[in-house]
Amino acid sequence: VEEQGNAGESSQTVEDGNKQLVLAFHGRVIDHLGIQMYQSPTAALAELISNSWDADAENVELTLPVSLGADSVITIRDDGNGMTFDECQSRFLNVGYDCRDGKAISTSKVKSRPLLGRKGIGKFAGFGIAKTITVDTISRLNGEHTVFALNLETLRGTKYIEGQTRIDTQVADGPDQNRIGEHGTTFTLSSLELKRAPSILQFTRSMSRRFLLAERSSDFSVKVNGDALPVDIDSGQEEYVFPRDYAAGEMPTGMSIDAAGWAVESLPAGRTIKWRIAFFEEPIKEDDLRGVSIFANGKLAQRPFTFNIVGGISAQQGLEYLTGKVEADYLDQLTHDLIATERQRINWEDQDALPLLDWGKERVEALCKIWKSRRAEGKLKAMEVKLTPFAMRLGGLQSSERKTLRTALTKLAQINSLTTKQFELLGDAILTSWEAGRLKELINDLANSPEMSADKLIELLVEANVLTALNTHEAIKTKLTIVEELRRLVEKKELENAVRDYIATNPWLISPQWETFKKEISLKKLIKDLLNSKKIDPAKDWDRRIDLLLASGDRLLILEFMQPDKKIDMDHITRFKYYVATVRNYLTGNTGQPLRHCTGYLVANKIVNDPAIHQMIQDEVKNDLYYLDWEMLLYTSEKQYEEFSEILKERSPEDSRLSRL
Ligand SMILES: Nc1ncnc2c1ncn2[C@@H]1O[C@H](COP(=O)(O)OP(=O)(O)OP(=O)(O)O)[C@@H](O)[C@H]1O
Ligand SMILES: [Mg+2]
Repeated sequence: VEEQGNAGESSQTVEDGNKQLVLAFHGRVIDHLGIQMYQSPTAALAELISNSWDADAENVELTLPVSLGADSVITIRDDGNGMTFDECQSRFLNVGYDCRDGKAISTSKVKSRPLLGRKGIGKFAGFGIAKTITVDTISRLNGEHTVFALNLETLRGTKYIEGQTRIDTQVADGPDQNRIGEHGTTFTLSSLELKRAPSILQFTRSMSRRFLLAERSSDFSVKVNGDALPVDIDSGQEEYVFPRDYAAGEMPTGMSIDAAGWAVESLPAGRTIKWRIAFFEEPIKEDDLRGVSIFANGKLAQRPFTFNIVGGISAQQGLEYLTGKVEADYLDQLTHDLIATERQRINWEDQDALPLLDWGKERVEALCKIWKSRRAEGKLKAMEVKLTPFAMRLGGLQSSERKTLRTALTKLAQINSLTTKQFELLGDAILTSWEAGRLKELINDLANSPEMSADKLIELLVEANVLTALNTHEAIKTKLTIVEELRRLVEKKELENAVRDYIATNPWLISPQWETFKKEISLKKLIKDLLNSKKIDPAKDWDRRIDLLLASGDRLLILEFMQPDKKIDMDHITRFKYYVATVRNYLTGNTGQPLRHCTGYLVANKIVNDPAIHQMIQDEVKNDLYYLDWEMLLYTSEKQYEEFSEILKERSPEDSRLSRL
């Protein structure tokens, strides 16, 4: 070790009179080998997990700190072969050690697993997130126990490493048969270089996406803070999965499907690859999920990408929904290394990688095309279902009109960024506006354009916004018509069951807030018994003619209609009040049923002409008790809808269609 000065000058050593050159490494090479490449906990720890696999471990246990402090550590413990004291030196501490011994394919000692190790630098990955790495290992071979620490600052600080750098050995216990049972290795990363404690959820998700090992072999388990890494975390969001969803005739020639449902294909030179590609229902936002990952021997060799497709494919949008895995073990079985040092990228310029790249481009493009038509079909099917209630209305259109409408809807269905729900809403709006004779030009344009453009869509969305207002407005108009119809019935004194049924099916007539109310039959008998026990007689007490019980959520609505010739007077008011109080008292005492509140309406043709009575009625409003004549009831209802309609107009003042309405 050169203590001082510049190694370049001192490397001319004179030995036996001969000049001698030596190669010197600066401690900083460790930065290039480790730190810069593995700055996320996932990247760094994936290397240590790979080493445990190579060491025939069956169980790997990671502990991550939940909160970060100066003393926080990350540990990774395996029950693998461990290392003897000599192996610590010859394998672990020899940078660039070739565990495959020059062979392209090499397997582990005990379990004959294909080795993931190759470069002899993975151990430095820990320095991406920690300043100190402590190794504690017990050999399966002889039970030797060795503990030593690597400290980044010391290694870096040694300047030029010409000979050897002393490593601090804390334990070096010799062979011991009794210790063999405890074989395995524990790495402890301390002096952590993390800004915040890693999110365990994020970490496990991203780690599980880096390996296929758990799926491939039953004797390898990785746990993080006690929980096994999740498998198949993303399967719930898939809309189409290939090869599963290939239709007859769509499958590429020469392809077969294995027992696990993966496609098996051959590349030139007899290389076999397996793959599975899925499209999600929604665009994929996570970078480590969107695209195709390539695995070699079960370890991520290429982070998700789309085979460098650079635009121009017609179904390009599919790429945002696509996620997949390709197993290309051959990549790690060549004499030369195709996988970049940071192990997340394949050297695609290499002639052995090119056929895979070409295959990937072709396959992904073909799948995107299938996806595009599938998705349009899927939406159209949803539309057909949605169209069923409109069948009569559609049937009423001329056939040319029907065709235009159908084409327009198909175009709309092809906009992949629309969710099914959004499509249904827009499709519905289009149908309604066509019927109302609106937007004909826009819909025609839409049907005639070869592909739906973004501009067209925006235009449509802007229109749809107004349409929503228009549709709501129309709904209000319909309601006002119904109120009018009711007024007619009342005026003709047809205050019988027809009216009651009318209100039962249209409770919003009383007030827009009753829109969700439904006829409540289950309480009918109970309330009758209540009345009996309290000796309340509705027919006499408030001259009841018809009654109605409605409920929504935790609210009960009691509606009582008086005989046509009776006027609401003081007795009616107090008796009805007593009745509602009785019901309320029952509801609060019986916590088993869902109803908590009770609102009472007593409706008559007239109220007695006495200002004091009107005052009493006013006072009862705050108690949720309403005494109304029909005139007032209908007036309030109309008033409320008219106000609603005014608000809508105010919202789009510039739209003449609304003001015309
Ligand atoms: N957990 C472990 N158990 C037993 N031996 C280990 C363990 N981790 C590392 N080793 C030994 O140390 C060697 C060096 O590991 P390192 O990760 O640096 O290189 P590699 O795995 O051979 O290759 P690569 O750089 O491609 O990962 C390994 O080949 C292995 O012999
Ligand atoms: Mg390794």
